Amino acid sequence: MNREQPIATRVSAIDPVSPDAAVIDEAAQLLRDGRLVAFPTETVYGLGTNALDETAVLRIFAAKERDPNDPLIVHIADPADLSLVAREAPPVAHQLAERFWPGGLTLVLRRHPRIAAPVSAGRDTVAIRVPAHPVAQALIRETGIPIAAPSANRFMRTSATTAEHVLDDLHGRIDMVLDGGPATAGIESTVLAIDGDHLTLLRPGAIAVETIEQTLGREVARPKATPQDPSSPGLLERHYAPTATLVYLPETPVDDVIAAAREAHAAGQRTGLLLANADGPDLEREGLLVERLGAATDLDVVASRLFAALRALDAAGAEVIYARGFARHGAGLAIHDRLRRASTALD
Ligand code: TXA
Ligand code: MG
Repeated sequence: MNREQPIATRVSAIDPVSPDAAVIDEAAQLLRDGRLVAFPTETVYGLGTNALDETAVLRIFAAKERDPNDPLIVHIADPADLSLVAREAPPVAHQLAERFWPGGLTLVLRRHPRIAAPVSAGRDTVAIRVPAHPVAQALIRETGIPIAAPSANRFMRTSATTAEHVLDDLHGRIDMVLDGGPATAGIESTVLAIDGDHLTLLRPGAIAVETIEQTLGREVARPKATPQDPSSPGLLERHYAPTATLVYLPETPVDDVIAAAREAHAAGQRTGLLLANADGPDLEREGLLVERLGAATDLDVVASRLFAALRALDAAGAEVIYARGFARHGAGLAIHDRLRRASTALD
């Protein structure tokens, strides 16, 4: 895809709890003008623009080098604005909005015609989310329009959980970054498609699917997408990838994962490891690059550190990264999903 000349990327620090009105005003003006502003949400950083402006939306695809067939999430500040972006919302959508918005849940509904078509990448549906982060809230309210915002990373890279990650990927391609510190959840929203009364999990994420099922008192379908016919492009098999080769071994005992990493290291490869806090001895002393994600049972913490850890290992020059598996409930489902997609060795 053709890109324009590099543009100056302004970086503004912003208080994540009570955002400075002058900074919000400046960012909101850029968004209304169809420019690109990266901002923190409680899941990951988003790259926002005016969702009603087709040219603006195409700028996002160009800046990210994003596949034009991969649709964007539209962010609104208030659940009451749902009817401005979705053509219709069945009762179950309102029930979920009531319980989980603002928060890390994205609902896919029928698209309102005022939303710029490229947002939906040719579909009749649109993904919608109400973020909770005070900066995102203030920015969308001040802008006064729905904001299309994918994760603020280059296509196929892990999502950005800090402003530095955003700049690593998008410096010179976007107009502004609001630096509100690290995103707290550190993993993207859960994406749920609603078609009449039918619910399908398109992407496990920040809100555990079990919690959604408990709220509704029924099961949510979890499709197995094929690369040829994904029900959501986010389900493409290879995605969220670090530059290094990731070897994900979810069924292997941790000691054997460590042994495999030691072998790669001994063979001369610059080797990284993704582990829990208590795993193995002091492997750094042996020359391995180790990222410890938290206690193995604390899946929310592990999820929140996962993308930053992958980026840190990339930055340290890892050629190969070995990753252990975690339990697959709660945030563990999203952890497994992202590691599986980022890896080249599926088991
Ligand atoms: O937490 C998040 O969701 C972050 C923050 C910034 O909100 N956003 C994010 O956006 O992760 P993105 O574009 O990286 O991922 C959006 C996911 C993709 O898997 C996309 O395919 C799916 O949502 N999606 C968007 N619109 C869709 C639609 N109309 N139908 C099916 N899937 C859709
Ligand atoms: Mg993304």
